[in-house]
Amino acid sequence: MDPSTPAQSHPLEVIDVIEETADAVSLVFARPAGERFDYLPGQFLTLRVPGTPEDGTTWAPRCYSLSSTPGIDPHLQVTVKRTAGGYASNWLCDNAKPGMILESLPPGGRFTVRDSPDALVLFAAGSGITPVISILRAALAESAVPVALVYANRDRGSVVFDAALAELAGAYGERLRLTHWLESERGLPNAAALGALLPAPTVATSAYLCGPAPFMDCATEAAAAAGIDGARIHREAFSSLTGDPFAATPSGAPAGGPTSPDGAATATVGLNGETTVIAWPRDQVLLDALLDRGLDAPYVCREGNCGGCAFTLRRGEVHMLVNDTLDDYELGNGVRLACQSLPRADDLEVEFD
Ligand SMILES: Cc1cc2nc3c(=O)[nH]c(=O)nc-3n(C[C@H](O)[C@H](O)[C@H](O)COP(=O)(O)OP(=O)(O)OC[C@H]3O[C@@H](n4cnc5c(N)ncnc54)[C@H](O)[C@@H]3O)c2cc1C
Ligand code: FES
Repeated sequence: MDPSTPAQSHPLEVIDVIEETADAVSLVFARPAGERFDYLPGQFLTLRVPGTPEDGTTWAPRCYSLSSTPGIDPHLQVTVKRTAGGYASNWLCDNAKPGMILESLPPGGRFTVRDSPDALVLFAAGSGITPVISILRAALAESAVPVALVYANRDRGSVVFDAALAELAGAYGERLRLTHWLESERGLPNAAALGALLPAPTVATSAYLCGPAPFMDCATEAAAAAGIDGARIHREAFSSLTGDPFAATPSGAPAGGPTSPDGAATATVGLNGETTVIAWPRDQVLLDALLDRGLDAPYVCREGNCGGCAFTLRRGEVHMLVNDTLDDYELGNGVRLACQSLPRADDLEVEFD
């Protein structure tokens, strides 16, 4: 490992590259021993994609959702679709081959089924199928809930996992209601048309959406109009990181240095199975306070949009500067972002999953 990479970074070996469509490949990685790469359906890896991107750095950090399913697939798999004009997706599609080693951060993200649904509605568009197929397979294998999947693509040739989805539909019969929306046949989807594809929701139907923002807006409107509780509609947005979680850990000190521990709050922190009590300066976000003390706290974007640093607030109060990822359900359950949280109490207790 490069000395500048953070402690959480781990080399993953590519053991297979599967051409899924003309512009999407799956990379299969050998799963490292131990628990570090355990994951939940819907979570993502953050890969350090080699090369020389236009900004002059020698790698590009990018998140890719796991399209494999824990408990079913022995290996880790991500599926990368080419982005027109994009650096990392095209590099991976052109260069990834068995034997290649890529640095990765452990799985992260909050786009996982966590609200005990009695029915699932899944919406995916294009590469948005990757976390969704993992969630779908797990739900079918591990529960008895009925699942409706609406999957939008340009045309038949761009449907990733077409055969695998057909196989699941055949195997699970009425439990899986699979609808392909092909723009070549039906034009762009709209909320009314998407809503017409949904079964009548139960009280505890949850919806999971992944795809371009306009698609998710339509799907959110469709799910809400169908009667799905807004707190049960969960979205995963794909975008490229602007920060670099593989760069040497940036100093967490705010301009002028952190406030003296005398004026700091006290936090009891549960992390990686250990409990530590720290002084938490009032003007320093929790993630930086932990990293400055050498604690191996999880993070990816440091910008409030990936959920990779999420923790549960057990006692006290925090103020979040930015939150582009946690929904009302998570906030209501005490989930907060370490990279954005400032203390607003003297004595706090926080716990990382
Ligand atoms: C949680 C998460 C999960 C994800 N999962 C997946 C997945 O499973 N599969 C997948 O394929 N993707 C996934 N993504 C998206 C992925 O991380 C990348 O964003 C995607 O592959 C594009 O990266 P890129 O380097 O190819 O494009 P980039 O180089 O980042 O470019 C993105 C776009 O911006 C444009 N652009 C770049 N530079 C400039 C500039 N200077 N000015 C104007 N425009 C510019 C490019 O033309 C391109 O259209 C995920 C993202 C997140 C956050
Ligand atoms: S590290 Fe991404 S939200 Fe905090």
